[in-house]
Amino acid sequence: MKKLFSSILLSLLIAVHLLRADEGMWIPMLLDQFNIDIMHREGFRLTAEDIYSINKASMKDAVVIFGGGCTAELISPDGLLITNHHCGYRSIQRHSTLEHDYLTHGFWAMSRKEELPNPGLTVTFLKRMEDVTERILTKVNDNMTGEERARAVREESRKIEQETSKRTGLKAVVKPFYMGNQYFLLVQKVYRDVRLVGAPPSAIGKFGGDTDNWMWPRHTGDFSLFRIYAGKENEPAAYAEDNQPYHPDYFFPISLKGVHPGDFTMIIGYPGSTYEYVPSYHLKILMQDIYPKLIDLRTKKLNIINAGMSADPKIRIQYAAKYAGLSNSWKRWKGEIRGLNKLNAIQRKQDYEYRFLQWTHEDPQRKEKYGSLLAEYRKLYPEYSRYLLASDFINEVFFRYGAEAIHLAHYFTSLVEMTEQQADKDKIDKEVEVLKSRCESFFRDYNKPVDEKLFVALVNMYETNMPREFYPLSLLSWQGKTGKYMQRVYGKTMFVDSAKVFGYLDGFTAAAVKKLKKDPAYALAADVQRLYDDKIGPELQRLTAEKNRLDRLYMAAQLEFNKGKHLYPDANFTMRVTYGQVRGYEPRDAVYYRFQTTLNGVIEKDNPAIYDYHVPEKLKTLFREKDFGPYGENDRMPVCFIATNHTTGGNSGSPVIDANGYLVGVNFDRAWEGVMSDLMFNPDQCRNISLDIRYALFLIDKYAGAGYLLKEMKLIR
Ligand code: ARG
Ligand code: GLU
Repeated sequence: MKKLFSSILLSLLIAVHLLRADEGMWIPMLLDQFNIDIMHREGFRLTAEDIYSINKASMKDAVVIFGGGCTAELISPDGLLITNHHCGYRSIQRHSTLEHDYLTHGFWAMSRKEELPNPGLTVTFLKRMEDVTERILTKVNDNMTGEERARAVREESRKIEQETSKRTGLKAVVKPFYMGNQYFLLVQKVYRDVRLVGAPPSAIGKFGGDTDNWMWPRHTGDFSLFRIYAGKENEPAAYAEDNQPYHPDYFFPISLKGVHPGDFTMIIGYPGSTYEYVPSYHLKILMQDIYPKLIDLRTKKLNIINAGMSADPKIRIQYAAKYAGLSNSWKRWKGEIRGLNKLNAIQRKQDYEYRFLQWTHEDPQRKEKYGSLLAEYRKLYPEYSRYLLASDFINEVFFRYGAEAIHLAHYFTSLVEMTEQQADKDKIDKEVEVLKSRCESFFRDYNKPVDEKLFVALVNMYETNMPREFYPLSLLSWQGKTGKYMQRVYGKTMFVDSAKVFGYLDGFTAAAVKKLKKDPAYALAADVQRLYDDKIGPELQRLTAEKNRLDRLYMAAQLEFNKGKHLYPDANFTMRVTYGQVRGYEPRDAVYYRFQTTLNGVIEKDNPAIYDYHVPEKLKTLFREKDFGPYGENDRMPVCFIATNHTTGGNSGSPVIDANGYLVGVNFDRAWEGVMSDLMFNPDQCRNISLDIRYALFLIDKYAGAGYLLKEMKLIR
């Protein structure tokens, strides 16, 4: 009896272990027996060498950073890439006008000649990585302040990068792992001629839009196709008409067999950042101070932009990408607060910290090294939070995510500085050109009435939420008359009027700087910058350096405290492998979500009254006629599926790979109940959402009539 009991207990323990095992974003080069054993147990049939090798072609050679923040993978020997629609969105938008509206109608090159170049768009391959911890750590010691240490690390990293680049002609980046306890050199190859091959209409590629974003069940055909072009000998080259399709070392075969509950899946990609090892204080400031305020700010912004977009189709195109960008984090923040609360995350962290503290006290040396960490954190966080919030507000109100004209004006600071420092005329002329091209893209997507409403609402929010000591000078001097002040800014500034700004730049002379400095939008931007430089930046930098010092020690301590367990390093936008299984989940009591959605669900959502739920006629016809070709399954057309892979922002576009190493999906999102996984992973609620690759093939072939593209792929039937 006792024996039986203990074996039940044992299998229970193993089951629990298996469940939790799917948490983790692993460094491909360091996949070890621990990982491979689990992967094999979950069904994987290949080896670590098949994933990452520097001696032979491996999967890592088929996965790239797409642009600045997404992942993409190669699916043909001729450089064909698949990523998400939302990752290709900017490129698709840039080729779109009211006449050729590829966002609305989709775009399909019917031959290689028709593929569209995208200046500025790059893809980045990982050639190899190397541990350089020892070399970096010889440059630092325990007596350094946080800031000194950061400088020393930065300098040595730059040195390693420059040496490597010089030796190899490749791009080299040194990045910290485990909060600066380990450093890796990443050697990368960047291709610069990347052309748009195809994109479904937004009504498919963005189906469900921001209404369904971060949610399951999902019905988005979130993919787009690009092709990498190379110059001589398959090497990177700037765009040139006669560049040839790039031939990769490896590309993914595509399986038409689909996925079923319990199937092994693996994702290789570029997760951006996670914060799994932070103290409870970190969760507290996010959940109680930072997120709620940022959510409020963005709610205001989104309402204003939405009103503009609903009223005018031109504004809809102009603001679509901005809206999606703002709304994406806004919604995730809300989900994170909810998820962390449901998990009782702060309490969990506190319990863990209690055990940690006890452990530090068990040993005098440990106590000396780590005993005061948590107390130091407790002291640091409120102050850190105050400056972090101020810095966020400056960005959200005036700069990157804020009032657009002020943000544009801010870019002109460079011109003022150069002129005042009497820079060469050449240099100034160059800067004028840079600004012109910035203004060109700015005014393409600019609507003054929308921006002015944003400005007024945001400045009001700034005034109510920030202490007076963080007011920019102009706000202080117009106090009590802010309304009038704001009218004056938008009434007088040239930064709301394309003709005026171009006129100014065309006739730019050193003497004209005076006029610029008097422009009220410029003056405000300069005030805000001064405020940041004087009162916020330096303090935030100091506090951040101090926090980094604590983070590094706390991470080192946690690695010791958890000896024997495998702790993966937080995401840092380097290539990672995560594995899991296809599985549904129970979002609420008595509700079960299946693992898969189908075209039936798209048709069910169809609603002409809701913009996000318009279904194109042709898709309805294909559905009615059940014209799914070889891509459907039992009379249904699969669309998306979920699995337990631990992913985050940056993993968009990542390949979802089955037990045999074949591509079965393209990752694009996470489910609402699990978005707190960046801070705490919950194995029974966290699910990544992927496009079923068969839906993409069906759309390319049956919907777009671009079936010729499938010929270069390797389809496994
Ligand atoms: N939530 C996904 C990600 O974080 C998709 C975002 C794009 N889609 C959107 N509707 N905003 O990037
Ligand atoms: N949509 C995200 C991206 O663009 C992926 C979703 C997530 O955060 O997991 O990378």
